[in-house]
Amino acid sequence: MPSPPHDVVLITSEIFPFSKSGGLADVLGALPVALRQLGVRVAVITPLYGRLSTGKYPVHLVSEDCPVGFPWPETTFDVYAADYHGVAVYFIDRPEYFDRRGYYCTSKGDYFDNGERFIFFCRAALSIIRNMNLGARIVHAHDWHAALTMAYIHFARTVDPFWRNVHTVFTIHNLAYQGRFSYRLFAMSGLPLEAWHMDGVEFYSSFNYMKAGIAYADRITTVSPSYAEEILTHEFGCGMEGLLQRRRAVVRGILNGMDGEVWNPARDPFLPCCYDAADLNGKMQCKAYMLERVGLSAYFLDRPVLGFVGRLRGQKGIDMVLDALPMLMALDVGLVVLGEGNPSHEARLFQAVEDYPGQVAAVVGYTEEMAHVIQAGTDIFLMPSRYEPCGLTQMYSLRYGTIPVATAVGGLRDTIVPYPLEDATGFMFAPATADRLVETVREAVQVWYDRDTWGEMQRRAMGSDFSWERSARQYVALYQELCPDLECTSVAKKVSPKGDPNGY
Ligand code: ADP
Ligand code: GLC
Repeated sequence: MPSPPHDVVLITSEIFPFSKSGGLADVLGALPVALRQLGVRVAVITPLYGRLSTGKYPVHLVSEDCPVGFPWPETTFDVYAADYHGVAVYFIDRPEYFDRRGYYCTSKGDYFDNGERFIFFCRAALSIIRNMNLGARIVHAHDWHAALTMAYIHFARTVDPFWRNVHTVFTIHNLAYQGRFSYRLFAMSGLPLEAWHMDGVEFYSSFNYMKAGIAYADRITTVSPSYAEEILTHEFGCGMEGLLQRRRAVVRGILNGMDGEVWNPARDPFLPCCYDAADLNGKMQCKAYMLERVGLSAYFLDRPVLGFVGRLRGQKGIDMVLDALPMLMALDVGLVVLGEGNPSHEARLFQAVEDYPGQVAAVVGYTEEMAHVIQAGTDIFLMPSRYEPCGLTQMYSLRYGTIPVATAVGGLRDTIVPYPLEDATGFMFAPATADRLVETVREAVQVWYDRDTWGEMQRRAMGSDFSWERSARQYVALYQELCPDLECTSVAKKVSPKGDPNGY
């Protein structure tokens, strides 16, 4: 188990493979390991959920009855830890808050006490850093669940010399989820009254956790260069654009990488047969296996099959796919959807399976295995997101030679080269409408029947470089802006996907 000092401490509500509800977990499962490989001493702090999958990484108790401190002097928690590929992961154990069936909600809605749970989480994370002498020089918080740490550190600097040399970075993974609560929670948080204003944590009289990160972090990052530009606009800023514009000098866009160990068609334990860019034959067997597993007709072995893997929410455009269904089905294609989310989208999906037996299949629920089986066994990957901070599933589909049809937004723009460019790896459309989706799928289907052009496109897609090393180097460069002598055995080069020195 790596011991302190940990120069960089990441705070997150999810980390793969211990906990996961979406891409945030994938990023936190890979970024610290990539930083470690560059020689950065890094640790992660996260909740100990009841649903934690410990698997190969045993978790053991390291400290009992830790005080959470101000403003809840009576409250304590235990700390567990695991060694995850050389990264120390600390788990905050307080069963009353985290030993539940879901992370944030049940099928009936959000937990009523989420505001309190994540005040506790942020206070407890800072208590670990302070009382267990982690040695943090940079505290890097992710999304609204961890955002209050940025405000706590900012205000603690004026009263406690310990925090004066600690720098802060806040990463926005999804600006639409802000963690908005009542003033009652603000009173409970222990933040000083001077934080309650429009350039602080107040947002139309509510207490906005995301704003705490945006207002008080020393640096703000988001997960793709395009999204970093988009969030400064009214269309994508979710009400935060004004504050973000005021802080734009410290905003950076760093594209996520993807975990090429977990997502590798040449070595994927979930597949019946492996394949790579040099020999795509195995993909056909994966398709046959997938058709059978999900109940699609074998007729579609010789026809293109569309795949969708993601949260069934407006963001991901699943309603657009369902609206377009009759027109898509007329293209003589199969469709398989894996996801869970909005009950009305789920109900429409079940209806679609009844309306098009053997042509539409749905797996409603969360299954890591089926995500791999569908990525490998389909031909075209649908990602009609209305906005997409980065998006990881399109990177996985590219890697699996499943050509994406995606909207031209956010990280999708930064990861897919659109047809008909010479080096195309996918198809893109705008605006995000059902008609444009259908037109673009029609174009992709036409190219699919031109087997040579399609094969070349697949090989290029599979060769796309989304290594975490490149992204981790950009984070190191950012940390070194704050802490020039931060130790890193591998020299961090300034790299930017678009070559702009500001990271945009
Ligand atoms: P987001 O974080 O916005 O949901 P990303 O594309 O960044 O989108 O990441 C989604 C992650 O969650 C991917 O690893 C994807 O495979 C996974 N995922 C989404 N829905 C499901 C599901 N129903 N079953 C299994 N994995 C899923
Ligand atoms: C969020 C975004 C997604 C991104 C992921 C990881 O969930 O919706 O686009 O890939 O975070 O950063």
